[in-house]
Order: sequence, then C-alpha cells, then structure tokens
Amino acid sequence: MMEPLKPIAIELSLPHEEGDEFGAISKVYSPAEHGVEGTIWELAKAYVAVNDSGYHQLISHFLNTHAVSEPFVIATNRQLSVLHPIHKLLEPHFRDTMNINALARQTLINAGGILESTVYPAKYAMEMSSVIYKNWNFTEQALPEDLKKRGMAVEDPKSAHGVRLLIEDYPYAVDGLEIWSAIKEWVRDYCSVYYKNDEMIQKDSELQSWWKEVREEGHGDLKDATWWPKMQTREELIDSCTIIIWIASALHAAVNFGQYPYAGYLPNRPTVSRRFMPEEGSAAYEELKSNPDKAFLKTITAQLQTLLGISLIEILSRHSSDEVYLGQRDNHEWTADKKALEAFEKFGKKLAKIEDNMFDMNKDGKWKNRVGPVKVPYTLLVPTSAGGLTGRGIPNSVSI
Ligand SMILES: [Fe+2]
Repeated sequence: MMEPLKPIAIELSLPHEEGDEFGAISKVYSPAEHGVEGTIWELAKAYVAVNDSGYHQLISHFLNTHAVSEPFVIATNRQLSVLHPIHKLLEPHFRDTMNINALARQTLINAGGILESTVYPAKYAMEMSSVIYKNWNFTEQALPEDLKKRGMAVEDPKSAHGVRLLIEDYPYAVDGLEIWSAIKEWVRDYCSVYYKNDEMIQKDSELQSWWKEVREEGHGDLKDATWWPKMQTREELIDSCTIIIWIASALHAAVNFGQYPYAGYLPNRPTVSRRFMPEEGSAAYEELKSNPDKAFLKTITAQLQTLLGISLIEILSRHSSDEVYLGQRDNHEWTADKKALEAFEKFGKKLAKIEDNMFDMNKDGKWKNRVGPVKVPYTLLVPTSAGGLTGRGIPNSVSI
C-alpha cells in the first residue's frame, strides 16, 4: 500500500522587476519542523494554499462549471423544443444555473465584488479566469481525459472505465469514474431509444442547430478549436451529453460542497497573502524568531476578509431543502416513453449501489487517503444528501 503523499519542496516565484523577458525569480523551500526554518516552511505552505484557493474558486469552480455551462443552457432553450428528447435529457441539469450566474455577476465576480476582495489574485481575478478560458477544452472535461491530461491515469482498455489510475488511492478519481460511467451508461441507454443510427443524428435539424449555436455563439471565442465534436455520430452525441451532465452535476459537487468542510478554517487554508516571504536580515525575519504566530497572522488573510470569505463558502457549501439529486427528477411525468423510464430507473439503482460502495470503502482501513490523517471520510461524490451543510450530495445542476 502506498503511503499518503507528502510535499518535499515548494518553489515560489515572483515576476522579474525588469520585465517578464528576464524570467521569474524563484526560490525553493524544503520541509522543516522547528525554529525559523519551521516557520518559513509554514509560510511557504500558506502561499501554496493562497494560490490554490484562488485557482480553485475562479477556475475549478466558477470557470470550469458555472461559466462554461451557460452556453449549453441558452442553446438548449433556444434551439431544442421542450419535446425534443435531448431537451428532456438535459433540462434537469440546467435548473437554476442562469439565476445563480446572474446573481454571481452582481455581487461575487463583479469588479470590486466579494471574490476580488477575498481571494487571490484580487483585481486580476476575472482577467485570470478569462485568460485561462482561452485554453479550455470541452472534450478534456470528460473525467477520464482530465485524469490522463493531469498525469493521474493512463489509457487501459482492460480497466473498468478504460483508464488505469497511477495513484490507486485517489478518492475523487475512484468515485468520479464510477459516477462518470453510470452517467455515460444512462445517456447511452436513453439516446439509443431515439437514435438508431448516425444518420438520424445528422438529419435532426434541431440537434444540429443546437450544436452550431453552442460552438459558434455560446462558446464563440473558441469556435475554431479543432477539438469540438462534429455531432455527426451517436457516439459524439453520447460523449457530449455525458460531459455536459458530468460538469453540471458531479464535477460541480466535487469542487463546491466541500469548500466549507475543507477550507473553512483560514489559518489552514488562507486565501490572501499580504506580505512577501521575509528575507534574512530583515525585521520581518527577526519576528519569525520572536513571535512566529503573529508573523503568520500578519501574512495571511485579514480578519474582515476572513469573515467575508468564510461566510461565502459556508453559503456555497449548503444544499437547499428542495435540491434534486443525480438520478432523481422533480417532475415524474417528464416522459411517457417506457424504455426511457426503465433506463432512468436502472441509472438510479446503479447510483445507489455506487453510494453503498463508497461508504464501505471509507470504512475499509485499506484506503488511507479516503479518510486522511484527521479521519475525515471522503463523501463529496456520494450522490444523495439531506438539505444543509452535509459535505455530500450531487445535485443535478449548478445552482449555488
Ligand atoms: Fe457553484
């Protein structure tokens, strides 16, 4: 059994004073437990957390789930009739997304809004998000592709989900692949009821207009990207719908509902740094020796920002009492097609089995990373939940 991962070095970089063409100014820090070196290592870890919390909120959460979903919501409503089978398939996964995004534009991600004032990189927050969007790739949002791209898995047709994990005890990937495959099977079963061959996809004019609008208008900045599925085959329809549903449900759940449970204690997960790493010989460096706690608190997020930031992630991490979870629908009369209803029931049963298995794995001492050294079990991809702050549950849609 592999030991849990441990950091062995942290490299911090600053832009060169004389311009980017001179490269970054970097310094490497290594682990230490005592004395001033111990405090420096604590600070180095805090700077990593600051960078990671900004990337998490702006890219992993806002950009990769909220923002990229919006064009699919709009194109579906504009181009697919409410009676169209793909409209019926996707509609539950768009519930409240436009509302929450509109609200976010007014108070969260706007210039001078809550995100810019509580997380790094402050006033560059939206700029960073839009620069990174230029390299967004729809097909790489498929979990197996994402894992391969990040070097966490390799292609392996013999493995259950077509990929083999390079770190076997990686809870997000293990649970995620189960959920991913369940969604894909459901989408395949459902699409097969309505599309018997590729020609039916090509001749479905609503479907073709829908996909054209997604690519050319909704994601217009990326319309010339070569990776867009052409929407000419059943496989392309199944893959694309699976990705859309995955982003709106499991991917959003994995990055959103753990924010308060995992990041609600700011000294452990600061969001802003107010000072550079103290240089040897400076007064700030001397303070690391005489009063390391004070020096640490002077560096990380200030009190008012901390209050604002914690309040925000607490709200974001809560499920509403009328939440509808993956495998459920609020309207039981959404279709009269028996085969579609049977496939949906099969999907629900599969998810229930996956859920049981997650709890079994959390209890099995074999999987160290599922509970970690402080014994917090990984439950972010457990499909069901009660309302409130539960640290589990996959809602159908991006709605908070
Ligand atoms: Fe969210």
